[in-house]
Amino acid sequence: MKEKSGLFVQIRPDITYPINLLEDVKRIGPWTLVHLQPGVEYTYYAHIEMRAWDKALLLLQKAFDDLGARALVSEGASWQVMPQERFRQRSIEGPKRVGNNWYVLPKQYSRLPIDQIKRYGNFIYLESGWAFGEGFHPTTIGCVHLLEMLASRQLIEGRKVLDIGTGTGILGIIAGKMGADTVLCLDVDPEAIRVSKKNVASNGLSHKVVVSSQDLRSVKGFWDIVLSNLTPSVLTGLSNDIVRVTSYKGYLVVSGFQKGLKKSFEALFKKKGFWPDTTITKDGWVAQLLVRQR
Ligand SMILES: C[S@@+](CC[C@H](N)C(=O)[O-])C[C@H]1O[C@@H](n2cnc3c(N)ncnc32)[C@H](O)[C@@H]1O
Repeated sequence: MKEKSGLFVQIRPDITYPINLLEDVKRIGPWTLVHLQPGVEYTYYAHIEMRAWDKALLLLQKAFDDLGARALVSEGASWQVMPQERFRQRSIEGPKRVGNNWYVLPKQYSRLPIDQIKRYGNFIYLESGWAFGEGFHPTTIGCVHLLEMLASRQLIEGRKVLDIGTGTGILGIIAGKMGADTVLCLDVDPEAIRVSKKNVASNGLSHKVVVSSQDLRSVKGFWDIVLSNLTPSVLTGLSNDIVRVTSYKGYLVVSGFQKGLKKSFEALFKKKGFWPDTTITKDGWVAQLLVRQR
């Protein structure tokens, strides 16, 4: 029996035309409408196996397409996919340790006297809005541990870092504060772009951390460190481009999948010349550091 996870999806339409039709979609496949703000936000919940997530999302998307609400999804509406624990904990209310030595502080802490916050040692200010990556999720935490490991080997300072699927910008910002020379943070979600730009500015990193909605396929050049905490289907779909942009002997951090998929991702990237270096598993979620060998 495979373990099931609770999954919330929030749909925020940016046009109001089919509001009452949307409200009628109370149940669709494994999804139940659990909360709505009419015309603003619709939250669906499903309790399903992780490997069924993508299929279930397509089903939900199709239901909206069938209602003639296609534009809501394909033209700028945000789909938020988040595990259950994130739904409960998404606001950053106090300092949160995200690695061995890194803390996420709520944005308002930037107004406190430096004496009161310097005890946190290494920290970033963060607000999450509706973007993913407040530092609560085991995949984010695993990625921060791997960044710390790279930093301890002096492999971040002065390097070029690409953060694919930046969410709040958390990983790119930490890499920037660890001394990376330049960081490019990519996301497809307009909310993630908005939030991560603000977070980069709050951390005083706008001179070297760039947030962009550019498609990975059009990213040029080679990157010393590539971070990709993505869902399994996105990671698979982007894998050729991830490989293309990672420099020889460069490091790739992959995450966003559970341990049942570890072997298949390891095999996928091995075929492409990447060797596993370190694996972190937290609450069943994997974050893996790979090194490009050819
Ligand atoms: C699991 S979150 C990771 C957020 C953050 N990096 C962290 O580690 O907490 C994945 C992010 O990838 C973004 N994403 C999904 N598909 C993408 C794509 N094709 N290109 C870039 N970003 C994508 C999502 O919008 C989301 O913000």
